[in-house]
Amino acid sequence: MNAADFYTGIVAELYGPLKSFSQDPEPYAAFIEQSGTPALELGCGDGDPLLDLRTRGLEIEGVDSSADMLERLRRRAHEQGISATVYCQRMEALNLPHHYRAIFLAGPTFTLLPDDAAALACLHSIRAHLAEAGAALIPLFVPPPTPAEQIGQAARTATAPDGAELRVSVVAQQRDEAARTQTTLLRYERRHGRDHFVDERPWVLHWYTRDEFQALAAAAGLTVTAITDPHGNPAPAAATDVHFHLRPGPRDP
Ligand SMILES: C[S@@+](CC[C@H](N)C(=O)[O-])C[C@H]1O[C@@H](n2cnc3c(N)ncnc32)[C@H](O)[C@@H]1O
Repeated sequence: MNAADFYTGIVAELYGPLKSFSQDPEPYAAFIEQSGTPALELGCGDGDPLLDLRTRGLEIEGVDSSADMLERLRRRAHEQGISATVYCQRMEALNLPHHYRAIFLAGPTFTLLPDDAAALACLHSIRAHLAEAGAALIPLFVPPPTPAEQIGQAARTATAPDGAELRVSVVAQQRDEAARTQTTLLRYERRHGRDHFVDERPWVLHWYTRDEFQALAAAAGLTVTAITDPHGNPAPAAATDVHFHLRPGPRDP
């Protein structure tokens, strides 16, 4: 399975009910207000924080590679009486009809790109869709390994509105520090009476040192203007949960 197809089928179905928290919309609202509109959220999934930002009257569109997640977003938008324009595309191969003043990901969704080549392609896509006076915001993190005692245990459970028991658990995990990649085999389960559906999927996260990310951004024609914590304060050197702020810069010859 391609990494961009991870959030499909049972994973999309269980994503909302099993979600441990929603991204705080405030840093993204502040970023858009500072950078201008139109704005674009990459990896908008089933609508957090895009729908909240739309209710604030912000002109924002979304992109996601999962038609199943976008179907959920459209359903939620309809239920809430919100209009939302979203595109089913991969963020490493964007082909959109507009340029944007603000392009961002909410939370470290960029780490779902499985390697540096995909990351570079995505940065090129962002550069190509950014207005010359525009800005990009890319949250990154270094995922911690799952503690050994949690392997094989249910990570999260929930009960669906129809009474089905939903569960996700970590089956196994491999971490490659040299490749900066962690692959977690996740088991998704839906149990309703005698019906028991199980699917196991590899969830790949790929991370960066600050210098490596800065070099990839420069190769795509993006200049890093600041590295902050998620609240916009300068990030300490050792911080592993950071927001990269970027502007169009000179392209590599
Ligand atoms: C962790 S979810 C975040 C969704 C939403 N922003 C939220 O906070 O609830 C990550 C989303 O990124 C999407 N995604 C993963 N890889 C992608 C890619 N290469 N291009 C576009 N979207 C991608 C997934 O389909 C999924 O909906």
